[in-house]
Amino acid sequence: MATSSLVKLNAASSQWIGQHSFSQRSVLSSSPTRRVSFPLVRASYVDELVNTAKTIASPGRGILAIDESNATCGKRLASIGLDNTEVNRQAYRQLLLTTPGLGEYISGAIMFEETLYQSTTDGKKFVECLLDENIVPGIKVDKGLSPLPGSNNESWCQGLDGLASRSAEYYKQGARFAKWRTVVSVPCGPSALAVKEAAWGLARYAAVSQDNGLVPIVEPEILLDGDHPIESTLEVAQQVWAEVFYYLAQNNVVLEGILLKPSMVTPGAEHKEKASPETIAKHTLQMLKRRVPPAVPGIMFLSGGQSEVEATLNLNAMNQSPNPWHVSFSYARALQNSVLKTWQGRPEKIEAAQKSLLVRAKANSLAQLGRYSAEGENEEAKKGMFVKGYTY
Ligand code: 13P
Repeated sequence: MATSSLVKLNAASSQWIGQHSFSQRSVLSSSPTRRVSFPLVRASYVDELVNTAKTIASPGRGILAIDESNATCGKRLASIGLDNTEVNRQAYRQLLLTTPGLGEYISGAIMFEETLYQSTTDGKKFVECLLDENIVPGIKVDKGLSPLPGSNNESWCQGLDGLASRSAEYYKQGARFAKWRTVVSVPCGPSALAVKEAAWGLARYAAVSQDNGLVPIVEPEILLDGDHPIESTLEVAQQVWAEVFYYLAQNNVVLEGILLKPSMVTPGAEHKEKASPETIAKHTLQMLKRRVPPAVPGIMFLSGGQSEVEATLNLNAMNQSPNPWHVSFSYARALQNSVLKTWQGRPEKIEAAQKSLLVRAKANSLAQLGRYSAEGENEEAKKGMFVKGYTY
């Protein structure tokens, strides 16, 4: 009774522009397929979400990830002998976000909440600095990892409580996309519980983000930790992405308005043999083609502890022939390492550090277009950055 009057109301009501209909077979009866229709609040943002995702996934551009939590940013600063103070974090983020010409290679920047609300020392909002370069401001919205009870020493990602109101505030502040990073460990199994929890959390977050006008970046990071071969990573990645898309569908997430942030499919960091960029590209693309519908506009890889040059070479190898989606980067470590080493916290080195950011951003832009060569890269950029049990 209730269902049929709802159908009637929808059919007669033109203001319900978000109306979607779909087939649903009742589990309680053997009656044939019924059609029901209902409004999706999310529809009010659909065009904007699709445009935002398209802008971020634009040719020759990718994402600069600088959304380290204060604790992780502190580790970056400590590596060059600086204290973890708000002033130092702001100085570092200012260096990055005011790099002249950054928008040629960077389409989006993911910030931590503190940075989203900060300004330069001259009083210009960081959000404004980004918009001046045609870079879309983004925000990390997860609240970090916590041990998952009942699992094989695995974690789950917190942050759903209050997410809708936080997201609405971030939108007002100028953010147009969001990021949620959860992790899956190959050596831990992973357990079915951990995979389900990771996938469900990502899907719930994605739905809430879209309801609030933020394009969700869906990031189930498959950690590099372990001595397993590339085939094991492939198997786990296929399992994880299958579940992620299952729950994205259950939560009515609009696939044209999301971006993915996968790990590349590589052997474990402690595996006896390293894989070539061609092997990594082959396995990664195989996995993605089996799991990711072409409606998704962009695949923006994380670097996960690879060296700057490795991450760029692997991306380049993936762009040697056309893909169903924009295949690009969303690196933190693989874009920031040289910058930090050049800067060393010294004001007279800011310009040189910004130039080294542009060098990395341009290299990855070329890799997005499949035109990168590692010739002339310095030794520092070839050093791996893998850390066991890395958190963000
Ligand atoms: P990297 O693995 O590239 O350091 O970054 C991970 C991440 O989630 C940044 O947003």
